[in-house]
Amino acid sequence: MKKVGIIGGSGYTGGELIRLVFNHPALVLDFVYSTSRPGTPLYDTHLDLLGRSQINFTDKINLEVDIVFLCIGHGKSIKFLEKNQFSRETIIIDLSNDFRLEKDAQFQDYNFVYGLPEYQKNKIEGARAIANPGCFATAIQLALLPLVEEGLIKEAVHINATTGSTGAGVGSSPTLHFSWRNNNISWYKPFTHQHLGEIGETLEHPKIYFLPQRGNFTRGIFSSCYTRFEKSFEYAENLYKNYYNTHLFTNVSDNEISLKQVVNTNNCVVHLHKYEDQLLITSAIDNLLKGASGQAIQNLNLIMGWEEDLGLQLKASVY
Ligand SMILES: NC(=O)c1ccc[n+]([C@@H]2O[C@H](COP(=O)([O-])OP(=O)(O)OC[C@H]3O[C@@H](n4cnc5c(N)ncnc54)[C@H](OP(=O)(O)O)[C@@H]3O)[C@@H](O)[C@H]2O)c1
Repeated sequence: MKKVGIIGGSGYTGGELIRLVFNHPALVLDFVYSTSRPGTPLYDTHLDLLGRSQINFTDKINLEVDIVFLCIGHGKSIKFLEKNQFSRETIIIDLSNDFRLEKDAQFQDYNFVYGLPEYQKNKIEGARAIANPGCFATAIQLALLPLVEEGLIKEAVHINATTGSTGAGVGSSPTLHFSWRNNNISWYKPFTHQHLGEIGETLEHPKIYFLPQRGNFTRGIFSSCYTRFEKSFEYAENLYKNYYNTHLFTNVSDNEISLKQVVNTNNCVVHLHKYEDQLLITSAIDNLLKGASGQAIQNLNLIMGWEEDLGLQLKASVY
């Protein structure tokens, strides 16, 4: 069994990782670090763990742990690693955006590999440190990768993507307040969202107009991308099905898709539709799983040479 440490375990992605580690047959939880609640039981924060775990949050870090997941805010992972030097054998998986861009990938003696398995599984398999992709970035890249690989994006891509409230973490922003969020919808950071940097590096040249929206639900990202596409619908369909044929977690649906198909799973579902000269690609993920902690475990499975879906055989709660 490999020992796991979680930093930021009282947050949403940290809480989700605790759940995944408990259900993973090759992992055991060694410690869950918290700045705000050391000494308190995990189940006081993650109420679902009552009767399931006696572990307490701690302010002590085991620097010899086999794997550490950093589930803390942007800019905080760098500061954390500067203060805490893990063993050379420790695998580091960071969920923030501190190491996602090529210019940030080299840090101390780590070379952070961008952890999108559908894009570069081979590189992930040989990695010691992973920069786990952002949630919007995952949904959007999975919608566009097959087109990009074939050089078929010739003009601008327009994207609308709606996220659930957990996408913003446990924080106390007014937009997370129930009274504001419920029965409501709004956009934010139009055309300037921070995930455009990492999306741009994977997709290289396409001009992207991205409008992120806040949805009236807790989990998931539903993304609609469209761009000019001169080939036939059948061509696009074959292209996508061939591309994702060998990728366990991303599936192309012949039917229209909806969010509930993927919530509580590490899956991404993609659907294609052609209208005149426009190809519409819709994708859906669970932001806390394929968009964060599930993908982190998927990356770890690849590094360790385990089955890619070990501990990730989750079924959606569709109804
Ligand atoms: N939410 C998503 O859907 C999602 C998806 C992809 C990526 N991400 C990224 O994943 C990271 C975590 O996101 P989240 O949504 O889980 O955030 P979150 O719910 O706000 O949790 C972050 C946790 O970090 C801990 N923390 C705060 N300051 C710290 C410090 N200086 N040192 C160590 N720990 C500190 C806090 O726990 P304690 O008070 O217990 O220390 C807090 O609960 C972020 O970088 C986020 O952008 C999130």
